[in-house]
Amino acid sequence: MSGPRLWGGRQSGALDPAFEAFNRSLPFDRRLVDEDLVGSIAWARALGGAGVLSAPEVEALADALESLRAEVAAHPERLAESPAEDVHAFVESALGEKVGDLAKRLHTGRSRNDQVATDVRLFLRGEAKDLDRCLRDLVAELVSLAEREAETPLPGYTHLQRAQPITAGHHALCYAEMLARDAGRLCDAAARLDESPLGCGALAGTAFPVDREALAADLGFARAASNSLDAVASRDGILEVVFACTTAMVTLSRLAEDWIFFASQEAGFLTMGDEVTTGSSLMPQKKNPDALELIRGKCARVIGHLTALASLQKGLPLAYDKDLQEDKEALFDALDTTRACLTVTATCVRTARYRADRCRAACATGHLDATDLADLLVARGVPFRDAHHKVGAAVAAAEELGCVLADLPAEVRDEHLPELGGVALAEELSVEAILERRSALGGTAPSRVRAEVKRWKSRLQSWNA
Ligand code: ARG
Repeated sequence: MSGPRLWGGRQSGALDPAFEAFNRSLPFDRRLVDEDLVGSIAWARALGGAGVLSAPEVEALADALESLRAEVAAHPERLAESPAEDVHAFVESALGEKVGDLAKRLHTGRSRNDQVATDVRLFLRGEAKDLDRCLRDLVAELVSLAEREAETPLPGYTHLQRAQPITAGHHALCYAEMLARDAGRLCDAAARLDESPLGCGALAGTAFPVDREALAADLGFARAASNSLDAVASRDGILEVVFACTTAMVTLSRLAEDWIFFASQEAGFLTMGDEVTTGSSLMPQKKNPDALELIRGKCARVIGHLTALASLQKGLPLAYDKDLQEDKEALFDALDTTRACLTVTATCVRTARYRADRCRAACATGHLDATDLADLLVARGVPFRDAHHKVGAAVAAAEELGCVLADLPAEVRDEHLPELGGVALAEELSVEAILERRSALGGTAPSRVRAEVKRWKSRLQSWNA
């Protein structure tokens, strides 16, 4: 069955059925129906202002479009069942059923090209807000975690080799910083998208005396786009939003990877909540971190969408080309995937518990105190490079003896570290002492983490203000 067409005066034959299905976008762009209706109401008013439609005609169109909004919200299946080519064709034919021939006047001076560009920008306004809220909620969970675990020591890694002790709170706030920047990128993208393409026509602008600035304001845009070709042909804003989704997903994939390792029996630093783990169909003992693995995996999808959207626009001639219809599925899936991953990650963070005993024990092996030992030498006048060398030799001796640096026998200690005679190494190299030394801005000390938690709490309060 073929749908009502917005064109066809020129063509005499029917569409090839396979091409007709291929060409349709309603199965996915129906998601833009409310934006299409809102844009159409504003366009009717703009045509009224331009003297193209009379006041009663504008009113009749606006009333019909408003009631359509309510109807499709209550009965989304109307869209799913419609044979229309795209969401714009659906709206025009549904409007025709309500107001008859008057519906045919609404498209005066407008093209689906400026229409779809407007719909997507209106849609992204809501989506950006929603994603920003998800990012904020996740950051809030990380801040609560940091508060709970401000003092919990955790081995910090470089090259996935134990490096220096950090606090679990500091680790959590690292992700808060990253995610806040992801939110910032989203916000910047949304600000650049805040201009109205409507009234730019197919590519050259509209020939009717439409007040585009008033129209932009009517739709809540900050301004009207200044160049009609740019307005209908550019999708860099979509690319930018999906880039922000990508950086957020990359952040989540790193958190996922850290925690999958932390929850492994090899590390055992963390247990995941039952809410977000699964069992095995075969092995009764299993508790698998599927949520985090899926998040890590779904990052690949979003990176794929980013790549697809950049490739779609590469070398595309001005102005509109049907290639651009391909932007929507990538955009929608990137947004949906990112939102779902943010929500699930928040549950993972809320329900995870650090195992302080295991974390503390892990900090005691691997000579995570070696840097602090070198710093003790520096405090006694040894140049750092020499101190580094001496401690390296002491570590080799401790490895050989199978002991920690603080427990080196007196003669070995005197041989490698004569400057430290009389220093209570067990105390100076305790994990608490090591952590608390790093209380300068940016450091991992519990006191600094608590101060950062305080700063984050006030930042969260003003996040959406
Ligand atoms: N479905 C189309 C899209 O998403 C709408 C614009 C169609 N314009 C056109 N001239 N065929 O891009």
